[in-house]
Amino acid sequence: MQRLNGKETAQKIRTELKAKVSERKLRGSKTPHLAAILVGNDGGSLSYVTAKVQACEEIGFDSTLIRFDDTISEEALLLKVIELNKNESIDGFIVQLPLPKHIDETKVTDTISPNKDVDGFHPMNLGNMLLNLPGFLSATPAGIIELLKRYNIETSGKHCVIIGRSNIVGTPLSIMLSRNSNPGNCTVTLAHSRTQNLKELCLQADILIAAIGKPEFVTADMVKVGAVIIDVGTTRVDDNSRERGWRLVGDVKFAEVAPKTSFITPVPGGVGPMTIASLMMNTLKAMELNGK
Ligand code: GUN
Repeated sequence: MQRLNGKETAQKIRTELKAKVSERKLRGSKTPHLAAILVGNDGGSLSYVTAKVQACEEIGFDSTLIRFDDTISEEALLLKVIELNKNESIDGFIVQLPLPKHIDETKVTDTISPNKDVDGFHPMNLGNMLLNLPGFLSATPAGIIELLKRYNIETSGKHCVIIGRSNIVGTPLSIMLSRNSNPGNCTVTLAHSRTQNLKELCLQADILIAAIGKPEFVTADMVKVGAVIIDVGTTRVDDNSRERGWRLVGDVKFAEVAPKTSFITPVPGGVGPMTIASLMMNTLKAMELNGK
């Protein structure tokens, strides 16, 4: 078993990006600028957004964090999005999800200019991804693809089972892994809450991707010997032995599953840091695409 070290890989990507940014700055080019909108005080969302801002600082990007109370109206949030679309100094921005119930997330993501949609959530970017045309790839699926690529994991012809059909992870990943590309060319099964015989399906997976947000859902009896396991789960569970009172738990029961696998991502330190690295890559790309 080998760990797919997302933390280390993401650090390499950050170093590469830092070098690119310094080189561009020397040539008098603009500094890439990422903005993030955070609504409310959810601890998980706050730590993700903070990590994104810190990554910008480390790489040498400019960053702007815009925070709103969770009582903000949908209209006011949409106005902020429109303002950021027009703001020439900002190359790309994200609105951290989930949003409060009274705000329509689809309306918000549809309002973000596709040229600044570094999360790759806009229908235009999702459509381009579907057709293998240029655009922004969603950060978490793109991070997983990059991790598979950097570890030279063979995907062509493999059976990949993805558990979870979210618009952010499972659905785009199912398309990216089945495309004629490398990594790609997988035979993909997209499993979800109505799937029957899930255990039997998972046992057929050469690559198993868990993205359902149910702590330790995937157990050893669901995993084929030698499989590659990607764990997208990051649920905070109470843990009084930790000073902060919680720990992050993935969707895979790591201790019992890991010995059966060829490669596995840990939580934390697997997919999470790769998501942030892809967001940074998308931000640099946004600046380049917008001709700056
Ligand atoms: N919530 C969970 N993952 C993500 C992400 O990648 N981007 C945004 N904007 N919100 C999220």
